[in-house]
Amino acid sequence: MTDNIGLEEEHEFDVYPKRGIVLVKGKNAKVWDDKGKEYIDCVAGHGVVNIGHCNDKVVEAIHEQAQKLITCSGIFYNDARALLYKKLVEISPDNLKSSFLCNSGAEAVEAAIKFARYTTKKTDFICAMRGFHGRTFGALSATANPKYRDDFKPLVPGFAHVPFNNFEKLKEKVNENTAGILIEIVQGEGGVHVGDKEYFKQVRELCDEKGVMLIIDEVQSGFCRTGKMFACQHMELEPDILCIAKSIAGGIPMGAVLCSDKVEVPKQKHGTTFGGNPLACAAANAAIDFMLENKLDKQAEEKGKYLFNKLREAGIDKLEKVREVRHLGLFLGIELKEKSREYIEKLMELGVLALPAGATVIRLLPPLTISYEGLDFVIDKLIKVLR
Ligand SMILES: Cc1ncc(COP(=O)(O)O)c(C=O)c1O
Repeated sequence: MTDNIGLEEEHEFDVYPKRGIVLVKGKNAKVWDDKGKEYIDCVAGHGVVNIGHCNDKVVEAIHEQAQKLITCSGIFYNDARALLYKKLVEISPDNLKSSFLCNSGAEAVEAAIKFARYTTKKTDFICAMRGFHGRTFGALSATANPKYRDDFKPLVPGFAHVPFNNFEKLKEKVNENTAGILIEIVQGEGGVHVGDKEYFKQVRELCDEKGVMLIIDEVQSGFCRTGKMFACQHMELEPDILCIAKSIAGGIPMGAVLCSDKVEVPKQKHGTTFGGNPLACAAANAAIDFMLENKLDKQAEEKGKYLFNKLREAGIDKLEKVREVRHLGLFLGIELKEKSREYIEKLMELGVLALPAGATVIRLLPPLTISYEGLDFVIDKLIKVLR
């Protein structure tokens, strides 16, 4: 058998903190390694497979579309793409009417930055400390953590960072150059912190008053993860620009920016070769249909509550190592009083894949289709490891 670990180590740059297993198969909330060991997957491709690994509807849609047309330049119209545009308008906040399709979260954020600059004719952005928006230069400039930024300076000028969920600090920073405020509703990489409804309401009013674009990054929190199709819907918030990606197409790479009619985009001055390709669009159409037909938002809400309540009943917040448990829907973070990595490794040995978020948080992003039995397994192993 080929030594997959050896090959990757020899030929891949060491950019990812690797775990020592080779995943070869997935179905719903389970994945298997090359030795046949089974895991409950609360990494889910970093929050990509909200509808479960190898979802039958998506597999079927990809198969069908692959036999018809895989690629189609944006200079031509396409049936799968047209349908996706319609679906995106139907599921997003009412004011969002137009989309740009791309291939990743970072690319969605890049587009949002360009569109906000063009619309406002202003240059600067205010983002949040602990926020994460991606690794390309614009998205990285919006990202606060020096760990990601410092080796790549100089970054794009004009980005400032203020404490998350603190309206006064944000307001102080807004000036005549501010083109956009770019924030998450739930800071994912930053440790699973949920902003307050009142905060977002004030931010919305400030943006209206000052002619600033409100850009909400829901790359991680979108598509039912938090118990609503988009987390901004918990806040009754209508952003000017919504950035989405990750689980939009059931695991096929895709990103999108959804815009209100306030947003102006220069004619024929933005684009990407693969954006809106029929294969990804067909996968996204099937993924979105699955979410709606299976009321995945409600499932996430109920399973999120179940996970949170069961963890509390098991006494998680009384454990010496645990500082706090936070969640919105099935987006859950357990903040420890020490580094989380060792516990994440122990969980893996016991058959649960989990993510860090910052140094001290264990983050769980299971497929929203996970069974209650699967959740019980995760709860049991978490308590074992943290006790
Ligand atoms: C909130 C948020 N924005 C943007 C990104 C970047 O997305 P991508 O990795 O697809 O470029 C991420 C990735 O984790 C994210 O969580």
